[in-house]
Amino acid sequence: MDRKLILALVFFLNFIFITAQQESSNVNTLADTPPMGWMSWNYFGDNLQEKDIQEMADAMVKSGLSDAGFQYIFIDDGWQGGRDSKNNIIPDLKKFPSGIKALSEYVHARGLKLGIYSDAAPLTCAGYTGSLNFEEQDAKTFASWGIDYLKYDYCGAPADSATAKIRYKKMSEALRHSGRDIAFGICEWGQRQPWKWAAAAGGQVWRTSGDIRDKWKNLTSDSGYGMLDILDVNAGLPDYAGKGHWNDMDMLVVGLYGKKGPSSDLGGIGCTDIEYQTQMSLWCMMASPLAASNDLRNMNDATKRILLNKEIIALDQDKLGRQCEKKINTKTWNVFTKQLANGDYALAILNREDKALDFHILFSELGLSGKYEIRDLWAHKVAGKDTKWKGRIQSHETKVFRLRKIDR
Ligand code: GLA
Repeated sequence: MDRKLILALVFFLNFIFITAQQESSNVNTLADTPPMGWMSWNYFGDNLQEKDIQEMADAMVKSGLSDAGFQYIFIDDGWQGGRDSKNNIIPDLKKFPSGIKALSEYVHARGLKLGIYSDAAPLTCAGYTGSLNFEEQDAKTFASWGIDYLKYDYCGAPADSATAKIRYKKMSEALRHSGRDIAFGICEWGQRQPWKWAAAAGGQVWRTSGDIRDKWKNLTSDSGYGMLDILDVNAGLPDYAGKGHWNDMDMLVVGLYGKKGPSSDLGGIGCTDIEYQTQMSLWCMMASPLAASNDLRNMNDATKRILLNKEIIALDQDKLGRQCEKKINTKTWNVFTKQLANGDYALAILNREDKALDFHILFSELGLSGKYEIRDLWAHKVAGKDTKWKGRIQSHETKVFRLRKIDR
């Protein structure tokens, strides 16, 4: 081959390689750790009002949630007001009289980010304007408004996986070419095993289950997912989560108490604080995105204690990016371990029964040899230095410990 041609070929391949690397590193930086924020759906449904969203942004800062890592205000379904004469998607001006750009400026001025919602079909789940066939135009509109995240739903779209992959990829590419870094949340409820293809389709996060209800578990045949049902689905998927791409267990229902909104239907009667604490513990062990969905403007002390537990949040946001592994699985007990970036292990023990029970475990049974400092992350104190732990665990409680090796 002619020398010039070889040089040109090497140059070309190098260019392709660097571009590919840049693109993949670019995608990864959008969600190096699981996104954290507040999502509008469970509390407001589609009854969104600009003022409420602004107040939530203020409350996120004032309550200390933003200092603890909560960053996004995720506007869910119901913001849309159709399309204008040039087919640009527009907000419902009765709900958002100042427009979405003004709202994103409001949110950004508080050091937060703004997420928005659309759907891979003509209409969304609640019947509002979707983005099918307007992907590039809508992505550019979102970018021009200063949007940082798009939750992309799948109501009204065909059931097969091939179409889902095409439609999600189309929107992720549109976002990538929109001129702004916009993280992409895939929401097809785990029906087409998105953990196997959603990262390749450009998603930073993908829902693994149907919509969460504000309840412990699905006690009847009403089909609503409780926190335990979602835990059981997600616990089988640790191999698919990692830095930049996460299994999304849906919104936190912490602090909702069955009071309001879509999470209260299908048996969503509310949970106890111990159960809410369990949800926070296990969503963090699983490295799930954390989207609070309660009224941040009015939180009782228990809700604040749960959502603001920085030691638990640190497990979710750990730089190693591991989802925990289920080591013990009986009708009564679930035990999970999670390796952390500094060499520590997180250990979570869940009592699934309706009564308090005693539990004991040798760490060696979990593959953890030697002696550890055992820090109780809900009591915020060292519970001992040992090769084992024993104690009482309340009904539906999850104990979470951080184990730091002190002796071989
Ligand atoms: C679907 C999603 C929910 C929510 C609603 C909005 O059900 O899974 O999280 O976004 O649509 O209509």
